[in-house]
Amino acid sequence: MNFAIIGYGGMAGYHERKIKSVKEQGFDVDIIGVYDIDPARLEVAREHGLIAYESADALLADKNVDAVLVATPNNFHCEYTVRAANAHKHVISEKPIALSSAEAKMMYDAAKKNGVLFEVHQNRRWDKDFVTIKKLYEEGTLGKVYRFESRVMGSNGIPGEWRRKKASGGGMMLDWGVHMIDQALYMVKEKITDIYCRMSYILGEDCDDGFELNIGFESGLVYRIAIGTNTFIPLPRWQVYGTDGTATIKDWNPNAGCQYTLVRERVEKDLQGIEAGNGFTKTMSPRSEKSITNYSIPLDEPDFIGFYQKFVEAAKGNEEPFVKEAEVMRVMKVMELAFESARTNTVIKETF
Ligand SMILES: NC(=O)c1ccc[n+]([C@@H]2O[C@H](COP(=O)([O-])OP(=O)(O)OC[C@H]3O[C@@H](n4cnc5c(N)ncnc54)[C@H](O)[C@@H]3O)[C@@H](O)[C@H]2O)c1
Repeated sequence: MNFAIIGYGGMAGYHERKIKSVKEQGFDVDIIGVYDIDPARLEVAREHGLIAYESADALLADKNVDAVLVATPNNFHCEYTVRAANAHKHVISEKPIALSSAEAKMMYDAAKKNGVLFEVHQNRRWDKDFVTIKKLYEEGTLGKVYRFESRVMGSNGIPGEWRRKKASGGGMMLDWGVHMIDQALYMVKEKITDIYCRMSYILGEDCDDGFELNIGFESGLVYRIAIGTNTFIPLPRWQVYGTDGTATIKDWNPNAGCQYTLVRERVEKDLQGIEAGNGFTKTMSPRSEKSITNYSIPLDEPDFIGFYQKFVEAAKGNEEPFVKEAEVMRVMKVMELAFESARTNTVIKETF
């Protein structure tokens, strides 16, 4: 499968490297050309031995292009995906699929009408930290999980130009929220019952520079996602609370691994109180070593290369699409309800 990329910026470079590495491993994929509105980027493409198409139409007219990867700013995903599908190319769009459910539906409709495969690049389903947490959850290691805290906290503000503009599909909900919500819904196979979100505009940008989103699930489980771009001392990437224990992952550094603590004796015998702050407490007294067990495990190693292979197999009709339409539309709906909740400062109660 020969890929061509529309929008040859930072993320396109990532795809170029990944596709080349999959090819080197003997898999039949290649990247042959790009189109970008910026002539400087076309020059870089030529230096990399790629075809630098003079227009998107020229790229779409090339019979050697089997699939198009759309990696432009978010507001162009819909238009280019529909055009590529109408030119009978398979399409991968970068996340977020689009700016609204209505646009997203147009994209899937165009792919169906033309009999081509369309998928969204939800690559963070392969993050080592996420697959480690997902495994702990699915194996019930922590007992019944009642709360997830999934956080990404930086201090660089919103980078670049278009990410700071609402009209380009900027803001942290569309940029990071889409990944974190996709992970949540990919892992927790329960109905959502309620959504509450607060967004931040700390440095006065046009669009959200962070947010706190609580997704309530049918069992009572609360999944909290927090994104910040002005946090100079971040909290852990993950904190997961179950009836029998708690797990944490500090950050993306794989060497840090995952730590979790399980309860051995639920009720501490001879619980001693401590002086804490300007007071005395038994409730918040630390556990004795004999009543808990601490574990430290390495992060799981997922097979990331699988994304392109799975896309090719799905395009041939050998497999189901890995990132499915219903999943993407559900994530889109959560984001839309989060914006609505933040705008009205209300809990949105809807079961889906
Ligand atoms: N999946 C991930 O992990 C991940 C990570 C980063 C970015 N992304 C996504 O990738 C996309 C691109 O992000 P980026 O960080 O590479 O941005 P970027 O600004 O580095 O690159 C965007 C490129 O698109 C070009 N461009 C702008 N308008 C265009 C148009 N109308 N037609 C053709 N080219 C156009 C720009 O000149 C630029 O080269 C976004 O949708 C973003 O959300 C995904």
